[in-house]
Amino acid sequence: MTQPPDPSGPSESSAFSGQSPESGPSSPASGSQRGGAWRRPRLGTWTSRLQAGRLVGLAGLAGLVIAAAALGVGFWRSEHGSEAAADPRADAPATAAAAAASNAAVSTTSGLPASAADDGVTRGRYLARAGNCQACHTAPGGAPWAGGRGIETPFGVVYAGNLTPDPTGLGGWQAGDFWRALHHGRSRDGRMLYPAFPYTHYTRVTRADADALWAFMQSLPPVAQANRPHELRWPVSTQWALGVWRALYFRPGVQQADARQDASWNRGAYLVQGLGHCSACHSTRNALGASEVLDLSGGMIPMQAWYAPSLAAPNEASLADWPLAEIAQLLATGNSPRASTLGPMAEVVLHSTQHLSPDDLAAMAVFLKSVPPTAPTEARNTSMERVPVKAGAALRGEKLYGDHCAACHGAQGEGVAGAYPRLAGNRAVTLPVTANLVQVVIHGGFGPATAGRPRPFGMPPFAMVMSDADVAAVLTYLRQAWGNQAGPVSELEVAQQRSLAR
Ligand code: HEC
Ligand code: HEC
Ligand code: HEC
Repeated sequence: MTQPPDPSGPSESSAFSGQSPESGPSSPASGSQRGGAWRRPRLGTWTSRLQAGRLVGLAGLAGLVIAAAALGVGFWRSEHGSEAAADPRADAPATAAAAAASNAAVSTTSGLPASAADDGVTRGRYLARAGNCQACHTAPGGAPWAGGRGIETPFGVVYAGNLTPDPTGLGGWQAGDFWRALHHGRSRDGRMLYPAFPYTHYTRVTRADADALWAFMQSLPPVAQANRPHELRWPVSTQWALGVWRALYFRPGVQQADARQDASWNRGAYLVQGLGHCSACHSTRNALGASEVLDLSGGMIPMQAWYAPSLAAPNEASLADWPLAEIAQLLATGNSPRASTLGPMAEVVLHSTQHLSPDDLAAMAVFLKSVPPTAPTEARNTSMERVPVKAGAALRGEKLYGDHCAACHGAQGEGVAGAYPRLAGNRAVTLPVTANLVQVVIHGGFGPATAGRPRPFGMPPFAMVMSDADVAAVLTYLRQAWGNQAGPVSELEVAQQRSLAR
């Protein structure tokens, strides 16, 4: 167990598949987008969050009812009104022309070979990668693009639909219907869609890109598979509740270029805020599952024991002082000298960002680097009673590290460049939220297998080898050794994380 594996790493086929820390018995991709559009508020410990999640859920629902009553049908009207006005099929040519100028700035084909640029299907396939559509629209073991994957939310399960051109899927849809789904979050029959489908982000996609996506969807082999009905609790299951939610939190609108920024920044912003829907995970959701599309301040992924760090906080995952090339490298290969990707982020790299063109990755890097840094964040699980580290626990942690971890990560936590992450001075180790640390030690994991790094090195799972107390001791040691300065991890925290882990 303490021996590093064959330096050639796992075979490409075994890499990552089935090893995903959060996916458990289901397919590796199953966790990646689960709950992608819903988020519970930060409320202290995980267990209390789970219980509180219920209460907040109920309080939230009560709030919804009150909001609905208080706001009356005004919202309904305004929303219906604005949507009717914004209906693409009613788009006046004048506004279309104005939009086109701005769209041209964000929607570019520069990332693609010239031949692909004019071919809607090829472009659409590429854009579908950028949007990671398939991660949700293919069920584990199911036919590609035929839907059926359940997205777990604090309010129940929402099933992603069949996008193939079969009558049970998008057969019979027109380009305008598809645009309405992506841009307005409405199905062909006018039904409002749940934001587990991240249309709150996709609404930023230009009509030209939506049409290319549509061309690609139309080129898929038809698969007959009826959509599964959602399993949502009342009143979230109702259209009127969703109507209120949308009135509060959804503003349809294509990404507008920022004239103060250059083309590369604008392209990056378009990809990060639109198709890439990065903030679906990297921001906090309120009690009603809403988050701010432009917010990248980090948050727990709902229904998963993973924390997506702040992309603005210097002690979390701000990229402000990274070289651009390393940001692009992280998105392309899942690994860089300063960080490696784990769990749900490894899946984002695996299914989405690794397939983007160097130009687009460079643009995303420019944008991500420009995100204004916030103040350093504090430990977020402060409501958790910190169990003081017992005398002797520090020594125990050091011994466990030497026995189980040092062979790969180095006696001084220095790691091995390109193979095993360094743990000294690594922000992932000193994050205020310890969820990911517990996940990686208990479940182990592989980085994503990418063209740039086809055989990622793996970390074995320690669930069977280490008790909760051992995991707490070794993590506490990591967080305080070699100049790292972060709070201890308690046995209770590990036990709670372990019970949440899938
Ligand atoms: C995080 C998961 C997720 C991602 C990523 C995602 N979808 Fe979906 N999608 C869903 C869910 C869930 C629904 C069902 C929503 C509902 O029925 O209320 C849905 C519904 C749809 C619908 C409406 C289908 C219908 O029958 O009304 C379309 C069209 C669609 N998605 C296209 C896309 C495209 C294109 C992308 C990529 C750009 C994409 N989706 C990415 C989860 C996702
Ligand atoms: C499905 C949820 C999800 C989505 C979508 C997502 N991330 Fe992440 N991201 C995570 C999680 C969880 C982590 C923490 C694990 C890790 O360090 O890899 C993370 C970590 C990161 C890190 C820090 C890596 C490190 O170790 O310092 C960066 C940078 C990042 N994400 C960028 C992005 C960008 C850019 C996008 C959009 C293209 C994105 N993420 C979309 C979940 C997500
Ligand atoms: C066989 C080699 C190996 C051993 C033994 C090993 N690790 Fe790892 N560890 C890795 C690899 C490879 C990764 C990167 C995994 C990934 O990208 O998903 C990693 C990732 C990590 C990370 C996340 C770092 C980051 O930047 O996100 C932590 C924390 C960690 N290991 C701690 C430990 C601890 C604690 C032990 C001992 C209990 C241990 N490792 C034992 C290979 C190992």
